[in-house]
Amino acid sequence: MTAAIEAADIQSAMKVRAGYNNWATTYDTDRNRTRDLDEMVTRKILARLRFTSILEIGCGTGKNTSLFAQIGEQVKAVDFSEEMIAQARRKSSAANVAFTVADITQHWAIDDASIDLISCNLVLEHIADLDHICAQAIRVLANNGQFFISELHPFRQYQGTVATFTREDALIKLPAFIHHISDFLNAATASGLTLVQLKEWWHSEDEGKPPRLVTFMFAKSM
Ligand SMILES: C[S@@+](CC[C@H](N)C(=O)[O-])C[C@H]1O[C@@H](n2cnc3c(N)ncnc32)[C@H](O)[C@@H]1O
Repeated sequence: MTAAIEAADIQSAMKVRAGYNNWATTYDTDRNRTRDLDEMVTRKILARLRFTSILEIGCGTGKNTSLFAQIGEQVKAVDFSEEMIAQARRKSSAANVAFTVADITQHWAIDDASIDLISCNLVLEHIADLDHICAQAIRVLANNGQFFISELHPFRQYQGTVATFTREDALIKLPAFIHHISDFLNAATASGLTLVQLKEWWHSEDEGKPPRLVTFMFAKSM
């Protein structure tokens, strides 16, 4: 990465973090079909599975963390917004969940080969470098571990959709990077992950519109 691109990425990360710190108090209650569809889809794909150790990156207010606490023996949930994580801590009474404030664009403080499910929901639009995320993911995954990604579909991004919320009648748009489907596939396969499943999803109110979400399940198999 050149110094100029790196500086721009740091600036946008600071805006994203400040934005989520601001959004935290109403993130769960604002009307948000993408958030609701992600919760439904994540349950549909993962609820019947069981894991020893789950890592949730970008856990936000813990919307999906309660599911992970049910299907995982141990859950590590990470986010760089102190206010989002404060909401998650407030809601969670599960003894098997540990919340940590950390930036996933840095080295992950997680042991090699220690995790059997990573989940990343509605986070990667804010992350410039997918290669770093996939490289950290394959490092921390145990053999046969899985990496689940649920993301705003790039077709929606092409139409200008980004994460937004309102404050005092002002619409606040958070910085976002467009990642094409091929960007996810190329970053994952370059790191050594294998695609197991790719699905596209529509909310019940999305009839006639492009898919709202894309989900990927990747696996680390030796
Ligand atoms: C749209 S919210 C999604 C939260 C949760 N996963 C969900 O599905 O409701 C995006 C989250 O990603 C977090 N995030 C964005 N960039 C991050 C980074 N570099 N490191 C850690 N968390 C990050 C934000 O703070 C925010 O909580």
